[in-house]
Amino acid sequence: MDFGASFDEESDNQCDKEEEQMHCVRKVTDDLYWVGANDKRLALFENIHPIPRGTSYNAYLLLDEQTVLFDTADWSVCRQFLDNVEYVLNGRTLDYLVINHMEPDHGASIEEILLRYPDVKVICSVKAEVFMKQFGFDASFVETVKEGDVKSFGKHQVTFVMAPMVHWPEAMVTFDTTAGILFSADAFGSFGSLDGKLFADEVDFDRDWLDDARRYYTNIVGKYGPQVQNLLKKAAGLDIKYICPLHGPVWRENLGYFIDKYDKWSRYEPEEKGVLIAYASMYGNTECAANILAAKLCEKGLTNVALYDVSNTHVSYLIAEVFKYSHMALLSVTYNLGVFPVMANFLEDMAALNLQNRTAAVVCNGSWAPQAGPKLVEAVGKMKNTTILNDVLTITSSLNGDTCAQLEQLADVICESVKGE
Ligand code: FEO
Repeated sequence: MDFGASFDEESDNQCDKEEEQMHCVRKVTDDLYWVGANDKRLALFENIHPIPRGTSYNAYLLLDEQTVLFDTADWSVCRQFLDNVEYVLNGRTLDYLVINHMEPDHGASIEEILLRYPDVKVICSVKAEVFMKQFGFDASFVETVKEGDVKSFGKHQVTFVMAPMVHWPEAMVTFDTTAGILFSADAFGSFGSLDGKLFADEVDFDRDWLDDARRYYTNIVGKYGPQVQNLLKKAAGLDIKYICPLHGPVWRENLGYFIDKYDKWSRYEPEEKGVLIAYASMYGNTECAANILAAKLCEKGLTNVALYDVSNTHVSYLIAEVFKYSHMALLSVTYNLGVFPVMANFLEDMAALNLQNRTAAVVCNGSWAPQAGPKLVEAVGKMKNTTILNDVLTITSSLNGDTCAQLEQLADVICESVKGE
């Protein structure tokens, strides 16, 4: 992905400093180009989730007998996106704009496309047309499509597959049946800037992307597991060679690996046998108990343990981890006769995202009215198919001989449960 690359049919990227436009494109296939943009300045995705590695807003441009743009980009990168489109069009006009998803991180630049290419025909779902008007875009030519509709752009024929609630109700995905390319909207996306590496096989995905992909999925689409399952069932009937999501890398190899991850996440099945220990501590005593629990688990041979202070870990990371592991141990100090607020927020988020199929252990601390325990049990107990391993282990101010022994027993119970599953 060269910044300042000139268009050349024969190569992926070439630099030509004489070009006026500052373009940054990559070939996906011979006639399909990535024309999106990266944003490393944005601190919070959706103004809530930290993205220290930035994000990409992917859009794709097909040069067939007709030219077809698949989605647009966030307003923040509009200039780069428009330059990319103009550059790849190389003097041609834009014939079609396919809108798979209307959320403004992809739809915000629609108006600019309409202004620059006034004859463009917009293709979208019925609901997307409604949203387009709600967001104030007035396209002259809108063709709404429904499940299974087919459209030919010359050599390439596409079919439209509705994907409601992945992640908004208007969402659809478009499958290029000629080339086997799935334009998958938010599905199969990830946080993180591409930094030139468009394809998942150009990086060590597990090392460089998996954590961000999981955090993206679980926090953005995690609530809609059944709807993702519906989409996966439809996708199973397609001969997919490429997956082109709206965020993160494009997949052209080993697609089954990532599809399996999505299948697992959307069924709320843990990826790994292991324990997330999340603690809320005010003066270090609950933290001490969490550290001792982690040490005891490791001592007993259970080393797949992750330990987090909920007060200094953004909840989006906690959510990703609780989706990853089979077990969670929640330790909270009592605050205002309830669970410590940041832990309560984590529990609320778990419930909102429909987390289920987990096993939990609960520990509370309190100096005179340790009421966090029952509240923890109540919150975890509401999660579908989730088991609580222990009666609440209650610490009064700090660990003593008795509660230390109980912590040891709890470690045994957790180990047995993890190994037994
Ligand atoms: Fe990346 Fe739901 O938008």
